[in-house]
Order: sequence, then structure tokens, then C-alpha cells
Amino acid sequence: MTETIHPLATIPREELLSRAEADPLRPRFHFVSPAGWLNDPNGVSQWNGTYHLFYQYNPEGAFHHRIQWGHATSTDLVTWTDQPVALEPSAGPDAEGCWSGVLVNDDGTPTLVYSGRFEGKELPCVAVGSPDLLTWTKDPGNPVIAAPPAGVDITAYRDHCVWREGDTWRQLVGSGIRDVGGTAFLYESSDLRTWDYRGPLLIGDAQGDPADTDWTGTMWECVDLFRAGQGRLGSAPADHSPDVLVFSAWDDGETRHPLYWTGRYAGDTFTSEALHRLDYGGRFFYAPQSFLDESGRRVMFGWMQEGRSDAAMVDAGWSGVMSLPRLTTVANDGTLEFAPVPEIGKLRRNHTSVPAQVLVGAGTRVTTVVSGNQLDLELDVQLAPGAEIRLGVLASADGAEQTVIVLGRDADGTPTGTLRLDRTRSSLDSAVDVEEKSGPLSMTDGRVRLRVLVDRSAVEIFANGKPLTARIYPTLGGEGVTLAATEGSVRLLSFDAWTMAGVFEETRSLLPERK
Ligand code: FRU
Repeated sequence: MTETIHPLATIPREELLSRAEADPLRPRFHFVSPAGWLNDPNGVSQWNGTYHLFYQYNPEGAFHHRIQWGHATSTDLVTWTDQPVALEPSAGPDAEGCWSGVLVNDDGTPTLVYSGRFEGKELPCVAVGSPDLLTWTKDPGNPVIAAPPAGVDITAYRDHCVWREGDTWRQLVGSGIRDVGGTAFLYESSDLRTWDYRGPLLIGDAQGDPADTDWTGTMWECVDLFRAGQGRLGSAPADHSPDVLVFSAWDDGETRHPLYWTGRYAGDTFTSEALHRLDYGGRFFYAPQSFLDESGRRVMFGWMQEGRSDAAMVDAGWSGVMSLPRLTTVANDGTLEFAPVPEIGKLRRNHTSVPAQVLVGAGTRVTTVVSGNQLDLELDVQLAPGAEIRLGVLASADGAEQTVIVLGRDADGTPTGTLRLDRTRSSLDSAVDVEEKSGPLSMTDGRVRLRVLVDRSAVEIFANGKPLTARIYPTLGGEGVTLAATEGSVRLLSFDAWTMAGVFEETRSLLPERK
């Protein structure tokens, strides 16, 4: 098959790696592809002790085209070993791309269920792996579902969630019903190859205001259904653990934001109770996928997409960051809470702290000795009603650039407030996305536990377990950290800081070989 050169493939392959490596904005302790393009996490799993992270990958350059499945393994969720590309398009139903999917254990045989793209459309495909998960063979019967459900006018149809209930496999495929809303179509199978259609599991509402941060879109990408807390999907709940249906709201080519329904999955339907935002950063934590690891923890990864122009990405030689793995748990109010897995703490170096103190009145500044562009910051604060505190990171010495995390408590004395990320001064580059991101926080007695991970252009913020993820593109190389009370009275109970070591020491290869 002759391959045509994509018009965006303007950087010679040999140069992609060195360009990517040389970019000061490229994260050092988050997983990134060797160079070129990365999007969704796929097939996230733990198999015989080893963690596997597959991802949507284009080694040809930093643009989305002819997507392959990149693959990396880890024994600790912190450092990663590049493995050979797992899936690559070939003549047939995935000739235009191996799009997102999952890994399941079919009685000991590692099996991928993914979306093969052909003639501009996607259909479910299957591939089986060698025992070490490094060599994959596509099923000769692909696509295993020949067409979307008949008689439904759909907006798109792709991505998979597959699980087992007794002897039966169940699968969801993300989709949308035109002029109605996003949905997930439910299927059943005994062998992962022949699937019976059961119907839509749940249908969203595409009406409403598309500008809303919880608009459910016209199509659901990357649906992920799981029981949060104890118990298996489909079993009688032993406690109040909700079932959770995660999806990424999509609209006509636009990746909007990840959301989740809590409710109960039973039979062929999901009875929803409430809709929630998964991450206050919206599209910057997109297409999340989770798995249960061997110790019973639910771990989630998401794609931290770029906020710079297509041309800037192509020029940089790389695009896309994988979030840190997030421990996913249920809060008392039935919503999800997130924290980076504790293993990430292994990368901490050079501990410093700021003494506990009370900050009163607008403009009280705290002197911090912390600085750096790879940081882990942990603060415990208590806000009086109406109080506000601002934590600045990546601040340039002249003050021209800085990214500010703002915590505010409502003035009415209720235990509620807001987490906000002010990126308006995060970059002197006027072409990058600096839209403000924010979301509500509950804070008993005004108490907020804040964790901020800064990795050059990647920022992950957790405030009382609610995440806000974003990308920032400072131009001045500032590394300052500032803290100031800007309204009311704030007790700083603790402030610990660490610099973070990088995880990739060796030169990487665009097309890694078997180790
Ligand atoms: C989500 C997504 C998926 C699709 C994949 C293609 O970001 O659009 O729906 O399978 O990316 O790379």
C-alpha cells in the first residue's frame, strides 16, 4: 500500500524527537508520547502485576492522522517503558485509524476491543495479544459489529466499554441520536465476536445551552461504566456505592468536556440520579478511561489536550499529555473524588514548607522559598466567610506572567465556595487558550485541602478532591510561587512543597522496539 504524505507532516521524522525534547514546555513527569501526537488513554489495565497504558498515537507528527495504538508499561504507575506500537492501521476495517478502545481478559487471553476507522466511519474491531501483551493479531472477522443499530439517525458511533457478567460479555458503544442527544448503545455477547444489540442504555438531551459546562453534547465519546466503591457491575449493591457512567460530551467535531452520571445500572438500562462535571478544566481532561487495579483501586487517566494552535503543535514536534493516574473514590455525598495515586510521591525532592500563619486582609503576602516548574504543592487552608486566597505559580520575576489558583469562600457563611484557575496572565503569547476555568467547592468549616501539580505546561489541581486540569504556555520561564490572601481572613494550616523529578531519562524512539 503506498502511503501518502500528510500535508502537516512538515517536520522530518528524524527531527521530531529532538524538537520535542528541546521544548521547555514539554512535561517531565507526566507521560507523553516519544514525539508526535497523543490523545486518549486506551486499554488501561494491570496484567500480572504490570500496568499497561496504550494511547492514541501518530508518530508521523503532532497532528491527528492515521492513528495507531502507542504502548507503555510500568510497574509503579510512575515511570514508563516504551513498548512497540500495539495496533497500526492495515488494509481493511481499520485502514484509516485504530481509534479508542479497551483491554479485557478473555479467560487468560488479552483482547482489545477498539474502533476501526474506514471510509470516514468507525466500527468495533477486536485483536488478541500474546501473553506478554506486546504482539497483537487482528480478528479476521473484523468489524465484529457490521453497522450501527438500524433505523436510528446517529451523529457518530465509536469507543467501547466492555465488561463481563457471569458468562456474558456486555459492551457499550458511544453514540448520539440526531436532534435528541448523546447515548451509549448496549450489546451482549458470549465470545466478544458476535454481538446482540439490546438498545440505548441511556439517552442524553442535546437541547439546552451548548455554552453550559454540563451540556451533554450531541454525541458521547469514550463511555466508561463502573461501580464506584464496592461491588461488581450488575450485582446487587452491598452499600450505597453508585454506578457511574462517564462520557466525554462531543459536538460536531468539538471535544467539549467529560461528565458523569451517577445512578443505577440494572438490566438493559441505567437509571440516572444526577449529572456531574468530572473535571473543572473541561476539555483539558478529556476522554478519561479507568480500570480496577489488582489491589482493587479504581485508577483513571485522561488526555490533557493542548491549548495552543495546530501550527504551534506541529512546530513543537509533539502534542498531548497523559494526566497522572488518578485514584477515583466516592465522597459522602455520592460524587466522585480524585487524587493522584500515592506512588507519584516517589518523585518528590527538596522538601520545603511555609510556616503556619494567619493571613488577614487584602494583600497579605506570604514569602515562599519555593520555586520551580516541576512542583508538587500541598496546602491546607481555612477560609472565613467571604475570604479569598491566591496561589501563583510559574510567576516571572517581573510579574508579567503568572498562573493563579484562586480559592474563595462564599460570604453567606455556608460551607461552599469556588475553585478558580486564572490563566489571563499565564502567557504573553496571545494565541494560546487562557479562558478561565472554575467550579464549586464544598468546604466544611471553610477548610480546603489543595494539591497542585505543575509540570511545565501541564497543571493538575485538586481541591477537596475536585479536579481542575489545564494547560498553560508561559514564555518567560518564570518559576516563582506566590501566596496571598486577597479578601478576608485565611488560616494557612500547612504548606508543603517539593520539586519533582522527571521520569524519562533515556532517549526515546518514535517507534520503540521490544525491550
Ligand atoms: C476522543 C476521540 C475518540 C476516538 C479517538 C480518535 O478524543 O475522538 O472518540 O475514538 O479520539 O483518536
